Amino acid sequence: MRSFAALTWALACCLPLAETKAVFAHFTVGNTKLFGLGDWQNEIQLAQSAGIDAFALNMAQGDTTNDVALPLAFSAAASLGFQLLFSFDYAGSGPWDKSVIISMINEYGAESTYGKRGQKPLVSTFEGPSNAGDWQEIKAATDCFFIPNWSSVGARLAVKLGGGVADGLFSWDAWPKGPANMTTYPDASCNGPRGILQLAGDDSTSTLNLEKKRKDKRLWQLASILILAGALVWVRC
Ligand SMILES: *[C@@H]1O[C@H](CO)[C@@H](O)[C@H](O)[C@H]1NC(C)=O
Ligand SMILES: *[C@@H]1O[C@H](CO)[C@@H](O)[C@H](O)[C@H]1NC(C)=O
Repeated sequence: MRSFAALTWALACCLPLAETKAVFAHFTVGNTKLFGLGDWQNEIQLAQSAGIDAFALNMAQGDTTNDVALPLAFSAAASLGFQLLFSFDYAGSGPWDKSVIISMINEYGAESTYGKRGQKPLVSTFEGPSNAGDWQEIKAATDCFFIPNWSSVGARLAVKLGGGVADGLFSWDAWPKGPANMTTYPDASCNGPRGILQLAGDDSTSTLNLEKKRKDKRLWQLASILILAGALVWVRC
């Protein structure tokens, strides 16, 4: 298994790519303690060769690896024309301090290397629904576009949390688990009218599927609308 692609997700309409959709790989920063610049560059090149556009950097709060990794990761990404964005992990070692999040987004979010939706830095989470209220202040201070993964509470509740603070919801169920066809079951809690953004998640095998799809733009565009419908993100569904 390629280490960078333990989890992948594809996102329609977020990064400024003209014809194709952007494909992100969920990347666990906690595993990079021993990484130097060359290791980051190597992971990024592997990702690029698989048609991946960005890493969503999963980070646990208080992990000192983050402080070492971010300057290296952004430097490597800048040298290779790659993008990065933050996914704050609230499940790994507890909730993030909102002031730390604000300073991190304000430090990196304006860089050209940081993944954006329009002008807004795109930010996600791994869980953290109990801290939804923090994001009113974080969004006000950073102007980020916020697509948390609050899967544990279900979409209908998640979209209302923190006074409806989420700009979209991230689901983890876009890809089949093994050799099976997708069903609409994972979408059931998201049965809203506004399927504007779509995300997809899977293990490394999807990387190959994604690569194949990118080779056929039409199929990929269709895929982004139909096949990836297993996981949906709404803008206020
Ligand atoms: C989303 O949250 C679920 C737990 O509810 C977790 O299993 C999944 O890995 C998360 N995905 C991402 C990309 O954070
Ligand atoms: C998936 O669906 C297709 C079309 O209905 C079918 O031919 C195929 O056998 C299914 N695959 C699995 C693993 O169920």
